[in-house]
Amino acid sequence: MTSDDDFDEDIEEQIDVKSMHGEGGESTEWMDQPKMKKMFQEIEHRLQGVLGTGQYDWVDRRVFDQVFDKSTLLSIYKLMRQGVIDTVEFPIASGKEAHVFYATSIDGPRAVKIFHTSNAVFKGLTKYIEGDPRFGGLKRRHRELVTIWVRKEHRNLKRLENSGLRVPSAFEVNRNVLVMEYLGSNDGPSPRLRDIKIENPKYIFEQLVNFIQVSWKDADLVHADLSEYNVLWHNDEPWIIDVGQAVKSAHPNSEEFLIRDVRNICNWASKKGVEAPFEETLLRVLEG
Ligand SMILES: Nc1ncnc2c1ncn2[C@@H]1O[C@H](COP(=O)(O)OP(=O)(O)OP(=O)(O)O)[C@@H](O)[C@H]1O
Ligand SMILES: [Mg+2]
Repeated sequence: MTSDDDFDEDIEEQIDVKSMHGEGGESTEWMDQPKMKKMFQEIEHRLQGVLGTGQYDWVDRRVFDQVFDKSTLLSIYKLMRQGVIDTVEFPIASGKEAHVFYATSIDGPRAVKIFHTSNAVFKGLTKYIEGDPRFGGLKRRHRELVTIWVRKEHRNLKRLENSGLRVPSAFEVNRNVLVMEYLGSNDGPSPRLRDIKIENPKYIFEQLVNFIQVSWKDADLVHADLSEYNVLWHNDEPWIIDVGQAVKSAHPNSEEFLIRDVRNICNWASKKGVEAPFEETLLRVLEG
């Protein structure tokens, strides 16, 4: 990195610090800035759900404060202006890294995955580094890393879908926000394999083996976190989600990840009473 880059980063960081006090939910001063106020007024009615007002008064307002910092609101604003989403309604799931929301668009429901731009672990680390003159622009770099991660999930979804696999269609991405197909019905989001009574484990096992095989052979990807937590049971079929960590076969650890995925689903199937020998399954994946 050149010193010019450093300079740019420092300047940006200063702007960030001045105008982004609200990050992490400590303060929302930035909301009083005229520009932000205007922007927010424009989209506020489309965010009623997540603000805990309107028909979703059960939504915990803290979720909003936790997830929608200034930069995230701007991304949502842009996605709304582009017509990618119309409203953001309520949280479907919340994790350490991301919240997933139910959203609407003129073309139907959407799932919006919003990655946290500063998580607790990261915050814990930064207090030792921030303020040390040797390391500038940390927050910004973390945000950039999150952005890369989200783009990676978007691209991975596209690759997998192009190989004919059952994953949610990826529609658009803006910084830490990923808009994808909503897997669910009017009654709610489709459940994870983890949360349902499995009636046809053999069929599901075969589908998961097929997923690993086609990903590897055709999409040139390994999911790398395949488990009953990242498979949704949707329209009587398993659908694979959460593909941000998936890597191409050229990744130095890709084979290790492939073996782990195969082992995980074999263990899962065995527990459900399916004969699922690990080595044979791995061979099938590799030779299939
Ligand atoms: N397209 C979707 N349609 C419906 N529900 C979804 C969709 N994507 C995710 N979900 C729900 O949100 C939950 C979390 O999504 P996902 O697994 O992608 O993120 P995560 O596990 O929080 O990510 P991380 O592993 O980074 O913490 C899922 O378990 C599922 O219940
Ligand atoms: Mg997950």
